[in-house]
Amino acid sequence: MRIDILTLFPGMFTGPLTESILARAQEKELLDIRFHDLRKFGLGAYHQVDDSPYGGGAGMVMRADVIVPAIEAVMNEGMGGKEGEKGNKGNKRNRGKPWRIYFSPRGKKLKQAEVERLAKRDWIILLCGHYEGIDQRIIDGGWIDEEVSIGDYVLTGGELPAMVLIDAVARQIPGVLGKDESAAEESFSASLGRKKEYPHYTRPEEFEGLKVPDVLLSGNHGEIEKWRREQLGGRSRA
Ligand code: ADE
Repeated sequence: MRIDILTLFPGMFTGPLTESILARAQEKELLDIRFHDLRKFGLGAYHQVDDSPYGGGAGMVMRADVIVPAIEAVMNEGMGGKEGEKGNKGNKRNRGKPWRIYFSPRGKKLKQAEVERLAKRDWIILLCGHYEGIDQRIIDGGWIDEEVSIGDYVLTGGELPAMVLIDAVARQIPGVLGKDESAAEESFSASLGRKKEYPHYTRPEEFEGLKVPDVLLSGNHGEIEKWRREQLGGRSRA
């Protein structure tokens, strides 16, 4: 899967994307993550990316005439250039249209079912907004396919939501998790009825007077399975 991230703060992604499972996924070329600094598309000597809102009010709004050229540049590069443009023959990595996501608290709440749906895509573009948001015409004009929220709280920008989405989506891509880290039977998976997972225990058998449930030590797989089903937490609410 190719993921293009449009952001003013590419440095924020160091750590989450350069360690552990996500680093390994990129080494294995299961994930191809590319950064695009929105400042490079800024206007004038100061590379301005935002402006004050029409109608007044606090904060700044990211400009459509900065964001749209940035989205289009990434799309044109990935799709092998504009039709009729010279020099694009032989670009073997041409792809279909990307799915373009903008992060905002107004968006559709990210749930495991959405994560699984997104993991089937070949190419996504993530637009990370800052300040008060982006000019609505970027959305109304069809440059964004989906607005996504990661919860009912307000963050300083779309970078943390982008990292959350990438982490959740990446672990659904075949080969990203090792065989000991399977994503099949876990919280919110379809196989567990989208419920929360059962609790886990490991050695020692007794810790500070707290014992591992007998059934898990019984070796009776039928009983263990039954116990685990009984432990599943309720379905997450909207
Ligand atoms: N940007 C700011 N807050 C956000 C949230 N909760 N989800 C997605 N994007 C955001």
